[in-house]
Amino acid sequence: ELGPYRHFMQKEIHEQPRAVADTIEALIDAGAFVAELFGDDAAEVLRDVEGVQILACGTSYYAGLTARYWIESIAKLPCTVEIASEYRYREAFANPKNLIVTISQSGETLDTMEALKYAKSLGHTKTLSICNVPESAIPRASRLVYYTRAGAEIGVASTKAFTTQLVALFTLTCTLARLQGRLDETQEAAHIDALRQLPGSIQHALNLEPQVAVWSDRFAPKQHALFLGRGVHYPIALEGALKLKEISYIHAEAYPAGELKHGPLALVDESMPVVVIAPNDALLEKVKSNIQEVRARGGEMFVFTDADSHFGESEQVHVIRTPRHVGVLSPVVHAIPVQLLAYHAALARGTDVDKPRNLAKSVTVE
Ligand code: F6R
Repeated sequence: ELGPYRHFMQKEIHEQPRAVADTIEALIDAGAFVAELFGDDAAEVLRDVEGVQILACGTSYYAGLTARYWIESIAKLPCTVEIASEYRYREAFANPKNLIVTISQSGETLDTMEALKYAKSLGHTKTLSICNVPESAIPRASRLVYYTRAGAEIGVASTKAFTTQLVALFTLTCTLARLQGRLDETQEAAHIDALRQLPGSIQHALNLEPQVAVWSDRFAPKQHALFLGRGVHYPIALEGALKLKEISYIHAEAYPAGELKHGPLALVDESMPVVVIAPNDALLEKVKSNIQEVRARGGEMFVFTDADSHFGESEQVHVIRTPRHVGVLSPVVHAIPVQLLAYHAALARGTDVDKPRNLAKSVTVE
């Protein structure tokens, strides 16, 4: 069942080109961001949406945080993202013209389900779920559904579910933008083309595994790690930190790089590895100046970037590059190296990668 892989997690990481390709298959066939991808009456539901409110837990929540950057910049709609267990217990403001989006791999997470029920009790009728398990509870309770086609995810740490959620959310973003007249045909064609090329770009990132594994050996003895990103890559830093703590039990925290000097910089010394997600986007120069602050304090840096960004490598600054910058879908590609880093760090520490202590695959209790 595992084929050439040692764990389900490693197998599932490597399945991502296929999982992403399957998840966008219907879109590629349609050749356009058509509302029907989300259900029969989706056009009617989505056309007059005034904002998007995303509810989820864990890794699915981080997919939502990533999507927020897309929804506001491409669809030009206000977007909030909230942890389901927080939303369900507060007196939330409800605008019934907002779209409630729940994201759940299992479709059975109790807090996400209860958050959806609560949203409905507040008068929300426009509900959409992004889910990996057909006919599970959350999609059944939602008006619209987009199924990710990652296939069964067995490793407790979510990997292929995350990247397929991201492409589903990007598809939703472009569909909303198109329906609301904010995406012209040229832009639409460019986004579809970018999605079409994504499985290949993910494969290129997977090919970096041997390099990442070398880094992991330096990580394994550490007690703590800091992850930094900015903009749309900040949620990837959060996801990287979650993966690392979950399966290797190394304490990890993620910060938007601009926040360093507001506190976490105090933690940085020679014993604190700092992982930086720094693709060649508009924020690269900002990230570079942030990491100077780390360098000056003796911190060891592990930088994930793409081919054409210039980083001075040294004893203290290690760099791994994906072959090229893929534009707006870059966070999907950069999810891969942080998954691989966590996996190999856990391997080096000898933990139970597929079944980390204290965790369950599907959290159906509060
Ligand atoms: C992390 C992880 C969890 C889940 C969370 C939500 O690797 O797997 O954080 O993402 O429990 O689960 P779903 O997506 O099934 O609602």
